Amino acid sequence: MEFTFDLEKNKEKILEFKGFLSDHKDMPGALIPALQEAQVKFGYLPQEVMEIIARGLDVPASKVFGVATYYSQFTFIPKGKHNISICLGTACYVKGAQGILEEFENILGIKGGETTPDLQFSITDCRCVGDCSIAPVVVVDEDVYAKVKKADVKDIIQKYSLEVECVDN
Ligand code: FES
Repeated sequence: MEFTFDLEKNKEKILEFKGFLSDHKDMPGALIPALQEAQVKFGYLPQEVMEIIARGLDVPASKVFGVATYYSQFTFIPKGKHNISICLGTACYVKGAQGILEEFENILGIKGGETTPDLQFSITDCRCVGDCSIAPVVVVDEDVYAKVKKADVKDIIQKYSLEVECVDN
């Protein structure tokens, strides 16, 4: 899935980011801090931003791409408005967390680690979140869902979909 980075909408942020690059241009090892700053500012590393880094730091674009893909801390997919995190720690796993993850994937039509094309939902998995007594656990944004069953998945998604509709109307 290709996401389009809106240069016009991000104009202000890009300007600020270019300022960051010119401040750090002569600093040794500036590439990683620049990638980190870009990820904080834009939420992920769009190709256009990596090209801005290459020009701003005067390094080959291939080097920027190479370093960014080497480190797992960097992501090339934007995060959705709502992040659904399914705990796959042992306690949750034995209580069916894998099936719950698959249910989220089926309903939203994306895989773990991906974001829906409308940028509303991302699915991630995580290890023990420290609430094993209420396994299996799903965390959506700041909300913790306990003893989740496959049958609950649709309602959980619906809750955040409705929220989106309410905000828009
Ligand atoms: S394993 Fe999921 S909360 Fe501990």
